[in-house]
Amino acid sequence: MLALPEGYALYEYDILDSTNEEASRRAQAGDIGPAVVWAKTQTAGRGRRGREWVSKPGNVFMSVLIDPGKPLTEASQLSFAASLAVKRTLEDVTSSWPEPMPITLKWPNDVLLADQKVSGILLEGGSAPDGNGGQRDYLIIGIGVNLKHAPEGAPFPATSLVANTGAQMPVDEVVSRITQHLHALIEVWQTSGFLPLRLEWLASADRLGETIDVQQGENRIQGTFLDVSAEGALQLGLEDGREETIHAGDVYFPDSQ
Ligand code: BTN
Repeated sequence: MLALPEGYALYEYDILDSTNEEASRRAQAGDIGPAVVWAKTQTAGRGRRGREWVSKPGNVFMSVLIDPGKPLTEASQLSFAASLAVKRTLEDVTSSWPEPMPITLKWPNDVLLADQKVSGILLEGGSAPDGNGGQRDYLIIGIGVNLKHAPEGAPFPATSLVANTGAQMPVDEVVSRITQHLHALIEVWQTSGFLPLRLEWLASADRLGETIDVQQGENRIQGTFLDVSAEGALQLGLEDGREETIHAGDVYFPDSQ
């Protein structure tokens, strides 16, 4: 039984093309949430940069549709809230374990389990008619979590919760918990801004202060992961002493390629 935060609608499906796509259809039809679209499987799940997101039953495929209450450019910071919500959820369920689960975060919004990707997040924003002749913005926070299955041959090595830990978590409970945590984090962001999220994210950041590779289109650069800026950009220290601020890209770890 799903327990969502007060005011959230639930749209639940056995199968969808993509929960982000369904959330977008609903937004364009005038419903900008708050709502959760959850599907047991997807036929056209999508990842970042137009990649496919393999969507076998047993994993989590959900999209949270909200009115962010701030400009969409700023609302991209909520991708950090989404990865924190996934991390908190996985930790909730394994809190009684003798050893903490090795969950870390990879910029901008991947959740790693033992250095392999266990969750990916895709934010999509848009604007829809408000019914009064104007437009209003909406944000879709799409979240995939590999509970049972992990894709093979992904650009960054992937794992699942079951493969890595043997732990079985009911999908509906994970959807509930992620939504509860995400809702709380969105409220923090709306009232106190990005700083608290940034600090919580940095406390679990993978490879902070270490060498990473960043791929931007055809271009790959290496440097030291220095920080995440007050806006959410990656700050990379280059070998020649210069500092680069990166707003979009894929991070890889030189020792795991
Ligand atoms: C990534 O490339 O890491 C982002 C993956 C996001 C996948 C989720 S699954 C639920 C939602 N619906 C989609 O089609 N994509 C997102």
